[in-house]
Amino acid sequence: MLPPMSSLVWIELDGKAPEHNLKELSRCAKKNVKLCAVVKSNAYGHGVAQMAELLPSTHWFGVNSLEEGLELREIGVKKPVLLLGHVPLKRLDEAVKADLRLTIFNRESILALLKLGKGSKPVNIHLKIETGTARQGILIEDIEDFVGGIKKSESLILEGVSTHFANIEDTLNHEYAENQLLRFHEAIDTLKKLGVDPPIKHTACTAASILFPETHFSMLRAGIGLYGLWPSRETYLSAVSCGKMIPDLKPVLTWKTKIVQIKILSEGSFIGYGCTYKTTRKTNLAILPVGYADGYDRSFGNRAYVLINGRRAPVIGRVCMNHCMIDVTDVQGAGLEDEVVLLGQSGSETVSAEDLAEWAGTINYEIVSRISPYLDRRVV
Ligand SMILES: Cc1ncc(COP(=O)(O)O)c(C=O)c1O
Repeated sequence: MLPPMSSLVWIELDGKAPEHNLKELSRCAKKNVKLCAVVKSNAYGHGVAQMAELLPSTHWFGVNSLEEGLELREIGVKKPVLLLGHVPLKRLDEAVKADLRLTIFNRESILALLKLGKGSKPVNIHLKIETGTARQGILIEDIEDFVGGIKKSESLILEGVSTHFANIEDTLNHEYAENQLLRFHEAIDTLKKLGVDPPIKHTACTAASILFPETHFSMLRAGIGLYGLWPSRETYLSAVSCGKMIPDLKPVLTWKTKIVQIKILSEGSFIGYGCTYKTTRKTNLAILPVGYADGYDRSFGNRAYVLINGRRAPVIGRVCMNHCMIDVTDVQGAGLEDEVVLLGQSGSETVSAEDLAEWAGTINYEIVSRISPYLDRRVV
């Protein structure tokens, strides 16, 4: 694990929320549908070791890279781990040794696995089908060729077949996703004609898990919902308007820091790099030891607010690499080393990942997954 970059900025994780969210998402599906917790990118910024421990009921874990899969094994995770991304051909043996499941979308990966030889441990592979996302995935017309390659080795077990939707979160019109699902069924039929029927079929991210039971098959592959965040406003609206069960998702993460200086500036003082802010009154300025190197986006300058004792304090001037400045003139009693909430709740006020996303012109996924992995993550 990385050493904390600063003890003055940290993440608190609600110890109960991940399991609660998992159960809520599972309620959207039939009992026999398994759940693969997607904990890639340091568990969307929440801390992979912490989240792995806070999700004891997950059946599987999903990660992007070999390194992430090996990390899960190193911290003692024994459950099935599915690698969703490409494994360097020269390092496939490491994945096999660690009993990591592989998502396959390149012929070269199959050839390299065949080369590992007869004595190699059996390896469970999942064929990823290109159904319209135009990311990883094999074309339906290439399935026969891939299956031919897989059948050449007894150590390759075609355990799964999967795809990923391109346009569920961003729209209220789900025609594109429905067409992707049709193509996935076409792929399954093609596989069946070739004499194979992988037992684990999986397509559903969080939005699909909530909105489309027909995408569930044998396993959900959920990420954002486990962290207590909705994939998008459109997903929520679609769920409400279609009368779907609305999972009660509880945000897991609170991001905090402490005030490291307070000073009084006179009216007309410029704040920070570029002098982008000029005070219009006598101002109590507080300095926070958090900046864009921690994942607190530069675009929050002159846009975001933080919370101190349940009161809002605007971020003024530009966010620096390791610092930012806030106006605490209206936050009575704010003092040195007082706790500040950058993301989360304080009293009756909240700064949500969606608020920060709106200020930064992005999505909640990016806000949380870009929080520096160097920060300490504490379960509370
Ligand atoms: C292949 C794959 N499956 C599942 C997920 C989980 O998606 P979500 O976080 O929307 O549940 C992701 C996330 O990006 C993904 O890339």
